[in-house]
Amino acid sequence: MKIERFEKWFLVVTVVVLVGCVVAVVLSVTQHSVSLPTPSGRIDPQAVTTTAPFTEPGLRPLGDNRYELVLIGRAWAWDGADVTVPKGAEVSIIATSVDVIHGMRIPDTNVNVMVIPGQISQVDVTFDDTGTYTLLCHEYCGIGHHQMGATITVE
Ligand code: CUA
Repeated sequence: MKIERFEKWFLVVTVVVLVGCVVAVVLSVTQHSVSLPTPSGRIDPQAVTTTAPFTEPGLRPLGDNRYELVLIGRAWAWDGADVTVPKGAEVSIIATSVDVIHGMRIPDTNVNVMVIPGQISQVDVTFDDTGTYTLLCHEYCGIGHHQMGATITVE
């Protein structure tokens, strides 16, 4: 079987790229602790507002500049958001949804998680810089999706 020269090169490049991808995945998992996000708990989406800690959405100080921020995502708002924390605050965000799938992203931080009915999502973030951070919904959730935001002020 005759293989054209350019076809051979294409095959070589394809194999190199595939091997590179496999090596990158293996190194990410073994050397950089990259892992798939897992739900940190389950919750009955019908009983969110009567299940702790979602009975009281909002910011709760834990001492030593550490906080817990409990959020309920609903179309199209975040219950418990719009808070102010001091610079350097370590905030553990715990969120769930009462209706449809939402997503939570705070640009310029590591916060980027899905917020899914029936699951509790948790993500820890440290706010090292002062300013106003926007908490966005990044999963299309209906006609008011673009308005589903909140602000976290760090001062
Ligand atoms: Cu909630 Cu988009």
